Amino acid sequence: MKALTWHGKSDIRCETVPDPRIEHPRDAIIKVTACAICGSDLHIFDGMIPDMKSGDVLGHETMGEVVEVGAENSKLKVGDRVVVPFTVSCGECFFCRRGHFSGCERTNPDRAKAEKLWGHSPAGLFGYSHLLGGYAGGQAEYMRVPFADVGPIKIENGLSDEQVLFLSDIFPTGYMAAEFCNIQPEDTIAIWGCGPVGQMAIRSAFLLGAGRVIAVDTVPERLALAMAAGAVTIDFMQEDVYERIQELTHGRGADACIDAVGTEAETMASADSMLDRVKVATFLGTDRPHVLRQAIHCCRNFGTVSIVGVYGGFLDNIPMGSAINRGLTFRMAQTPVQHYLPRLLDRIEKGEIDPSFVITHRARLEEGPELYKTFRDKQDGCIKVVLTP
Ligand SMILES: NC(=O)c1ccc[n+]([C@@H]2O[C@H](COP(=O)([O-])OP(=O)(O)OC[C@H]3O[C@@H](n4cnc5c(N)ncnc54)[C@H](O)[C@@H]3O)[C@@H](O)[C@H]2O)c1
Ligand SMILES: [Zn+2]
Ligand SMILES: [Zn+2]
Repeated sequence: MKALTWHGKSDIRCETVPDPRIEHPRDAIIKVTACAICGSDLHIFDGMIPDMKSGDVLGHETMGEVVEVGAENSKLKVGDRVVVPFTVSCGECFFCRRGHFSGCERTNPDRAKAEKLWGHSPAGLFGYSHLLGGYAGGQAEYMRVPFADVGPIKIENGLSDEQVLFLSDIFPTGYMAAEFCNIQPEDTIAIWGCGPVGQMAIRSAFLLGAGRVIAVDTVPERLALAMAAGAVTIDFMQEDVYERIQELTHGRGADACIDAVGTEAETMASADSMLDRVKVATFLGTDRPHVLRQAIHCCRNFGTVSIVGVYGGFLDNIPMGSAINRGLTFRMAQTPVQHYLPRLLDRIEKGEIDPSFVITHRARLEEGPELYKTFRDKQDGCIKVVLTP
């Protein structure tokens, strides 16, 4: 089959790889009908993610049609249309039983490596590092889905692929980011990053009753899309973000702040983001947490900082003094996607949201390598890419 494979920094190819096979009786094989490129794939593209191997099949936002089912999988049958969550979860362990699917303790075969770095291992992820299992991803013609009787959600209504594809990741992620904020009517939620995840967070914050959303980015078409959703926007390259948020909240700060940027924050935004860049380039640091620092700074006393932008290692100069003295709450996670699926599918079915609003580019799988660049460099108005094999 054809698949997008990783071969090093900025080197992604569309090549022929062996077809996936059923390896366990709970597996299923799906024929991919649509897949997307995520901001998390860009961290791989940019060489920020350790323990990738040449030839790894990428992709973790995937849906398709079931073409083969393992003998012990009684949930799926050939012909079912499914969306596959990016986390691989067993459904039975301590964490899965509590709904913490992305903390599954059974699906990372390489858990010792993750434990060494992080103390404990989270769940395995599709199309990601061998720290997290190295599962072949879904930017491909076919994909093997382990524990396919747990993760995939069946789509049995007339909704199009584009309307449901983002249930695999960015819609639950943006929704979780907003839900972490425990939104009360009249709350002001400030959101850093108007990429696909930030866009989902903005709309989810309104769905959950936010009085006002302040969206921070610098890319004009992304700010325009945020504004179209009803957000007040701040261009961080033109304006002082802290001053603007102070002004908008009469000096109190935002009720909650969402970091939907993560480790690849724009270098030129400020002195500390430049220093982060130098540290990472010289192996003196692992991450570039400028946005997290600013989000803490801009959050009101006893407010919440909700982190969905991904970080990898050890973050320098995080103002914990500010956080402890002012009673901030931190919430963060790789999204336990399965936990959110039924209610978010319901919201799409009811027409409360159509997540396809973020799509700007549609192309064939073969054009994937070029579109990784277009998406990373924010060329051609690119906000979200959907590929069809
Ligand atoms: N927690 C999860 O489960 C989960 C799931 C999906 C994605 N993510 C992460 O979410 C993040 C965003 O993903 P995306 O697909 O939207 O990516 P993206 O790269 O398209 O979006 C990031 C946006 O942040 C903006 N930005 C950069 N520096 C900024 C700054 N200083 N202030 C404000 N905005 C700034 C960029 O201009 C860009 O629009 C990534 O880190 C990704 O890995 C996490
Ligand atoms: Zn993702
Ligand atoms: Zn589990």
